[in-house]
Amino acid sequence: MSRAKITVIGAGNVGATTAQRLAEKGICDVVLVDIVEGLPQGKALDMLQSAPICGFDGTVTGTNGYEDTAGSDIVVITSGLARKPGMSRDDLLKVNAGIVKDVTLKASAKSPDAVIIVVSNPLDAMTYVAHKQSGFPANRVMGMAGVLDSARFRAFIAMELGVSVANVNAFVLGGHGDTMVPSTKYTTVAGIPVEDLIPADRLGQILERTAKGGAEIVSLLKTGSAYYAPSAAAAQMCEAILLDRKAILPCAVISKGAYEGCDGLFVGLPAKLGAKGVEEVVRFALSAKESEALKRSAAAVRELCEAVDRLGF
Ligand code: LAC
Repeated sequence: MSRAKITVIGAGNVGATTAQRLAEKGICDVVLVDIVEGLPQGKALDMLQSAPICGFDGTVTGTNGYEDTAGSDIVVITSGLARKPGMSRDDLLKVNAGIVKDVTLKASAKSPDAVIIVVSNPLDAMTYVAHKQSGFPANRVMGMAGVLDSARFRAFIAMELGVSVANVNAFVLGGHGDTMVPSTKYTTVAGIPVEDLIPADRLGQILERTAKGGAEIVSLLKTGSAYYAPSAAAAQMCEAILLDRKAILPCAVISKGAYEGCDGLFVGLPAKLGAKGVEEVVRFALSAKESEALKRSAAAVRELCEAVDRLGF
């Protein structure tokens, strides 16, 4: 038996922090890939030297090529430019589509049985690129966004009520952009609907802050975007797959017939993650308002995917 292997492409803040979180979980060997010479090697070596203190036995390898990635169980794609203040995620479309195409082709050739998790922005469209370029079945390609957006929503609700984050369950669906859809119907605090605990106008402000959660951090950091929560979300998805948890997490996945307006698109929906990747797109009855908002969000994602096609990616 050998240890599971996860490749993380991109050794920037999101990629390196994802690699660190995965190594520290002690569930896999990690390969960190980047085009910048020395960067993945240096970060990997640094992480490896933390192993005796953190208590993990997996290896962490940094490389500029794809040889060492061969036979990976999961490939996490974080490569691409991050937003600068004032930029939307969509502004990144063209340049990041080229990068995601290139790394997908290289990584999928070496790991034809892997599950791909895309983190690069604009998220839903980049997941579409990875699916198209890898030729993998849709259950083995997904995007990380809903777990992150839901974590932001959960954190804000826990702060508001002064309760443990463990008590807060939430689903943010739709595209990872300004049109995302925090579902209040399925957001609960120790099983109690959040709408019974927070007045509607205040809840509206929290929803707004959630939808703009990434931009709030970009404007504070000034260079680069968020990475602690994004990497935690990617690592949680990896763990759900490697440990065959059958965990229901909101992810950018393709569905057919489960949600109106979403067919054939990678868009944030509740998905059951296990050893086969996306094992099911779980169907919840949304409120009429949420269902409309999800349709609008899916339409925005569809436009970006059409732009990807027009650009030839
Ligand atoms: C964010 C970026 C990673 O939401 O999209 O912070």
